[in-house]
Amino acid sequence: MQKLKSLPELQKFVKEQRGLGKSISFVPTMGALHEGHLELARVGLQKTDICIPYIFINPKQFAPTEDLASYPKTLEEDLQKLSSVNVNAVYLPRMEDVYPDGFVTSVKLGGVALPLEGEHRPHFFEGVATVVAKMLLQCMPDIALFGEKDYQQLMVIKKMVNDLNIPVEIMGVPTVRDFQGLALSSRNAYLNNDELGIARQINKLLSRMGQELRGGASIAEIESRAHKSLLDAGFDKVDYITIRDAQTLLPPDKNTTSLRALMAAWLGKARLIDNIPI
Ligand code: PAJ
Repeated sequence: MQKLKSLPELQKFVKEQRGLGKSISFVPTMGALHEGHLELARVGLQKTDICIPYIFINPKQFAPTEDLASYPKTLEEDLQKLSSVNVNAVYLPRMEDVYPDGFVTSVKLGGVALPLEGEHRPHFFEGVATVVAKMLLQCMPDIALFGEKDYQQLMVIKKMVNDLNIPVEIMGVPTVRDFQGLALSSRNAYLNNDELGIARQINKLLSRMGQELRGGASIAEIESRAHKSLLDAGFDKVDYITIRDAQTLLPPDKNTTSLRALMAAWLGKARLIDNIPI
């Protein structure tokens, strides 16, 4: 596995591989890698000849009050994990490769970026979209892979790439969960054992929302019961737990063809998000 420690190193590697006729997949990450990230790399390796994950903790997607300084950093383990799934190279950009002095440009979003995470973390998707646009243009892969774990992020990136004609196929990968259904997340590292037990209720609650809907309950009823259940389970604060149109992430209407249950809630230091199709 080659370690590409700067933009020129990435571009040289990509040029060589293109010269050999290789197709390339790209896996954006912020490190603290787990099986969810590795699954993206495995799918990438199935789809293309070469897979390049990157690790870059993107300061632009953290608000000043958020966990940028304490975000878990496990570079040595990350590199071992990536080499164990046989990726060809990992890109480890320097700050100046991504945000050189004087950097002022950003991607302004609307539509699917506005509800849910957009309401609770107003700075967030602009930071994500800006770094992802930039990284896609640096690498110019055939495919970039994103997890359904961050479903709204996946939708935002698909829309951005389409709107801006960035010639990269965005591929979603189903959420990888632990043996009790908890979505793997780098932020699970913030949870103690009791909190892990509480967090493992999330998936059951989301599935129950689907069952209740099929049983004829109203969305308003289901949402308020689910909200209360999260608090009863031990969550400190619920940002949202809701049933939305899977395309627009707005409340379902007559044009809705598929639904998704999505949630975000605080447990100790961790803000956990999850979602499932229902
Ligand atoms: P990060 O949280 O490190 O996640 C990197 C990628 O891994 C995202 O596409 C995310 O959806 C996916 N992922 C995380 N947990 C997963 C799981 N349990 N199953 C499947 N996929 C999972 O998301 C980001 O970083 C950043 O916002 C980034 C896109 C890198 C931009 O900075």
